[in-house]
Amino acid sequence: MPRRNKITIVGAGNVGATCAHWAVQKHLGDVVLVDIKEGLPQGKALDLAEASPVFDFDCKITGANDYGPTEGSDVVVITAGVPRKKDPVTGKFTSRDELVEINRQIVGEVTREIANRSPEAVLICVSNPLDAMCHVMLAESGFPTERVIGMAGVLDTARYKFFIAEALGVSVEDIHGMVLGGHGDTMVPVPSHTSVGGIPVTELLPQDKIDAIITRTRNGGGEIVGLLGYSGYYAPAASSVAMVEAIVRDKKRVLPCAAYLKGEYGYKDLYIGVPCVIGKGGVEKVLEMKLGEKEKAMLEVSAQAVRDVVALLPYGKK
Ligand code: NAI
Ligand code: 2OP
Repeated sequence: MPRRNKITIVGAGNVGATCAHWAVQKHLGDVVLVDIKEGLPQGKALDLAEASPVFDFDCKITGANDYGPTEGSDVVVITAGVPRKKDPVTGKFTSRDELVEINRQIVGEVTREIANRSPEAVLICVSNPLDAMCHVMLAESGFPTERVIGMAGVLDTARYKFFIAEALGVSVEDIHGMVLGGHGDTMVPVPSHTSVGGIPVTELLPQDKIDAIITRTRNGGGEIVGLLGYSGYYAPAASSVAMVEAIVRDKKRVLPCAAYLKGEYGYKDLYIGVPCVIGKGGVEKVLEMKLGEKEKAMLEVSAQAVRDVVALLPYGKK
């Protein structure tokens, strides 16, 4: 019998547990859920395993508070960390950047544990602030850059596509487009490369409507926090699982991901969201697309926002 893929998900909270749910429902492989909270990963793993006869999946699901069961993982999704929250007194949201110090420590510790036991794995970072945490995972794992990838562009693009489909009353399936840059308020949706069944979106929607969709996309994470009081997890988990699937099935999908750039788009030694070919090896290629002057300027603003957070990390100047 061929060996099944082994997918580890660290953090059995909202995003992590939902990733596990969709990974097994898609039969992507055996799943190990790890969390520091005693009982949480074990309870979620057991509950999910008990759903297997109903939905007919034979994946093994293990919950643990230690890293032993993660040994030899093919893909590891790291969602451990503190999410954005709404302060019940002031009503203010934690910004992604405020999370940097606490999540740096969590992500650093988790990455070292994972890298020791799964030296060949592809690592997917989900914890925020996303682009900066990719730098933490790269430094702490010592892995080659193509095996440390950030999940944000798939989510931001999904939100962008959903808003366009909703505005036009058409199927989400027929929207093609991309959101580039860092996972923050400066992210760069690219209408010049967005089409609806092959028709440029700029021919179907007026500029003010497109601008409103861009603004809503940029605030997409905050909009959910405003409604729930904590951050979203269905769309983030779906987006992470799309990346896991591209890797374990070696699909060579073109997905917008946070990748370590080595000169592409004019950036070096920086993680930002760009279109990538994702397969068994992780980021197998970064695809370069032509950007207009305005889009290039917006990408630079976004890259600078990422650099500002990366500068807070103790890994030398980036
Ligand atoms: P959550 O609070 O529901 O789950 C986080 C889990 O991490 C908790 O169960 C916690 O016990 C666990 N954890 C904390 N420290 C740990 C450690 N040292 N080792 C193992 N587990 C540990 O949070 P949620 O909503 O699942 O979000 C997780 C992270 O993902 C947050 O940083 C959030 O901001 C980020 N996020 C990123 C998105 C993106 O697009 N990149 C989208 C959505 C969330
Ligand atoms: C989001 O965009 C909080 O980064 C998270 O939903």
